Amino acid sequence: MCGIVAYLGKKVAQPILIEGLKRLEYRGYDSAGVALLGSGAIRIKKTSGRISALEKVLDEPDAAETFGIGHTRWATHGEPSTVNAHPHLDYTGKFAVVHNGIIENYGTLKTWLRNEGAAFASETDTEVIANLIGYFYTKNDSEEQKKSDGQNKFEWAVQQALRELHGTFGLAIVCSDFPDTIIGAKRGSPLILGVGDNEYILASDAAAIVEHTAQAIYLADSEMVTISPEGFHTKTIDNITISKELKQIEFSLEQIELGDFPHHMLKEIFEQPKALSTCMGGRIDRQNNRIKLGGIDSYLRELTRTKRLILTACGTAFHAGLVGEFLFEQLARIPAETEYASEFRYRNPIIEDGTVVISISQSGETIDTLAAVEEAKERGATVLGIVNVAGSSIARATDAGIYLHAGPEIGVASTKAFTTQVAVLTMLAIELGRRRHIRSDQANKYIDELSQIPDKISTILKQSGYIKQIASANIDQDNWLFLGRGFNYPVALEGALKLKEISYIHAEGLPAAEMKHDPIALIVDGMPVVFIATAGPQYEKIMGNIAEVRARGGKTIVVATEGDENIKSALGRTDHLITIPDAPELLQPMLTVVPLQLLAYHAAVLRGHDVDKPRNLAKSVTVE
Ligand code: M6R
Repeated sequence: MCGIVAYLGKKVAQPILIEGLKRLEYRGYDSAGVALLGSGAIRIKKTSGRISALEKVLDEPDAAETFGIGHTRWATHGEPSTVNAHPHLDYTGKFAVVHNGIIENYGTLKTWLRNEGAAFASETDTEVIANLIGYFYTKNDSEEQKKSDGQNKFEWAVQQALRELHGTFGLAIVCSDFPDTIIGAKRGSPLILGVGDNEYILASDAAAIVEHTAQAIYLADSEMVTISPEGFHTKTIDNITISKELKQIEFSLEQIELGDFPHHMLKEIFEQPKALSTCMGGRIDRQNNRIKLGGIDSYLRELTRTKRLILTACGTAFHAGLVGEFLFEQLARIPAETEYASEFRYRNPIIEDGTVVISISQSGETIDTLAAVEEAKERGATVLGIVNVAGSSIARATDAGIYLHAGPEIGVASTKAFTTQVAVLTMLAIELGRRRHIRSDQANKYIDELSQIPDKISTILKQSGYIKQIASANIDQDNWLFLGRGFNYPVALEGALKLKEISYIHAEGLPAAEMKHDPIALIVDGMPVVFIATAGPQYEKIMGNIAEVRARGGKTIVVATEGDENIKSALGRTDHLITIPDAPELLQPMLTVVPLQLLAYHAAVLRGHDVDKPRNLAKSVTVE
């Protein structure tokens, strides 16, 4: 949540900052601003609204301004407004700060700073950081500062301020007394320094860096970096010098551009065959019918013997976890449970010897998921990660893990991350199944079927136009139900989540049989009820549920298996049928979710919403 970007180099900073902010806009988009330096004082421009609104209030770029910081906001403290937009100046007017995160003790600090004479203009917690730095800087005649021996006043003041903060921050800070220096620091929110040719880009996400350089350092918690034209140095907030390894950013600019697609979400839905092929490619050895998950090789023995698996995640990743839970139980007979990360961390979970925790996250930055990882580690569990973003906080915090290799996911609505998360969980479950429960020929059959999933998704994608017609026929309906059973129950939850988050239509996902225990009361004439009624052990049961909905006037949208003649005769003229290629029930979620992603996408576009930047949401939820 919130994107920060800073540039220091020889080029004109303003257009670079704006471009960087556009690439980070998916992290938050209710207000934006920049602070520029190079021609004297700090020049700040900010406004409520999106980056496009900021562009309208900006002056022509000043060629002398080759340093600067920028921010795109997802409001926490204080409404989205120009005064609450970042950068925030301190009361001395010397420091400008952009911040991603939440300062929990900002109230206490604000009162204290006010008593010390600091003035506040905004309602934000960030202004407290700026004012704290200003306070320490002006009080720098303390004994401690005198002892700091050569360290510049700016760095010292930042360190003093950061030590007072409770909560999370990714920060970029400039000071008018050191107009060629930018300081970055982090705790709990991501911060990456791109190291180019005589230029540096500091950002919340590599998406803002990759255009300039593929070389980066990833700051860890309680680390800071000071950048100047002479180079950069890294320290802990406690002033211990550290050296950081330069890493390669693993994706290209092309991967984060829209190309011919109108939205990132649609692009990412259509990328699923490729993303899945890449995800499974080097891991499935078809010749020897083996699955090789390099990242967790040294934990396979422990996993094979584990007594219990806990999968923990949020949102769409939680739904992937639910599919995983069913897979581990069915294929490997390992007791498994999926928990919302936000609940897990606070409910005193029982972690016994032999429990392995699997954390699932696209971004690797979701604060609740990260906190659940830390909680599980503290309680002695081995914690594995299934993460997309390489080098992210969760990837680093876990003992080992498996990357999705899905490529960058920019659309706020998670699509290819879900299918690749499920693919990774399926590969792991098959491998553990082979070692614990199922015969080799069964495992081989699943491997063979799994390898066919990308092609099968490609055939489903051809129905996009038809699914748009279904969305259009139901676009005036404000309440939808999504029902599925067995492995398709988590997909029903996911279908409802997708529709809600981008089209703002109220939807509920449920195990189909639960319908009779309450939501049946909601069914009125014409209400869309989406069923996943594909071939599987519960097919007859779900056909019964379809009949019950139709008898009450509900309009059914049914996802069924190709060639199912029975379902055609069961549906009426106004019902809709979407088909998917046949696959074993436990592999179906990667297929059945695709029409539901498309349905949500088309409904949102038809309703005129900004699909990639839905109201109130942000791509990675880095605040609790
Ligand atoms: O980055 P993560 O996978 O940890 O994100 C978890 C959720 O915030 C995320 O899946 C969210 O629910 C999506 N916007 C759903 O499309």
